Amino acid sequence: MNTIVVYYSFTNNNEQLAKLLQEKLKCEILKIETVRRRTALSIFLDVLFQRKPAIRPHEMAMERYDRFIFVAPVWAGRMASPLRTFLYEEKNFIVRYSFITLCGGGQDNQRWRLEKELTAILETPPENVTELWIKEVLESKNMDPTKFTTAYRVESKDFERFADKINAFIK
Ligand SMILES: Cc1cc2nc3c(=O)[nH]c(=O)nc-3n(C[C@H](O)[C@H](O)[C@H](O)COP(=O)(O)O)c2cc1C
Repeated sequence: MNTIVVYYSFTNNNEQLAKLLQEKLKCEILKIETVRRRTALSIFLDVLFQRKPAIRPHEMAMERYDRFIFVAPVWAGRMASPLRTFLYEEKNFIVRYSFITLCGGGQDNQRWRLEKELTAILETPPENVTELWIKEVLESKNMDPTKFTTAYRVESKDFERFADKINAFIK
């Protein structure tokens, strides 16, 4: 099986996760980069209008891959907008795929909403949707999730906490 990890990350949490998955799977990796760097305002507008911001062209041939692992943050209950752009642009090549996110967490129906949007765009359901909640890391450190979640930058040892979920995801 030829697998690729495709990721977008605004503040590097999901970049760390994507690289960890690449190491474990020993596969190729592609970073989605926007033409214009996202800001708090552009993220807000992306979410509000379900925008698909322009992303930089890449030189990897997507038809070479038969399994896609998408990694991106969640913004306001939805996948980060640059991943949405990528999915629309490459949807003809994507059949078998999964999605994993290192997100703030806490909302019960978020995973279901993510799955629904992925299925709507790609016209086929994901094999797996996994959320890794920063909320859990903060609680284990006695930090208040309501204050620190969006500002929290994961450290490599935080991933140990998610080892079971990550291993189940890549199986
Ligand atoms: C504008 C904004 C909205 C967010 N909304 C959510 C949300 O609805 N649900 C959630 O679980 N996390 C939410 N988060 C938290 C991010 O998903 C989390 O901080 C993530 O790890 C950031 O990933 P990155 O460092 O790869 O960009 C939000 C963060 C930002 C900046």
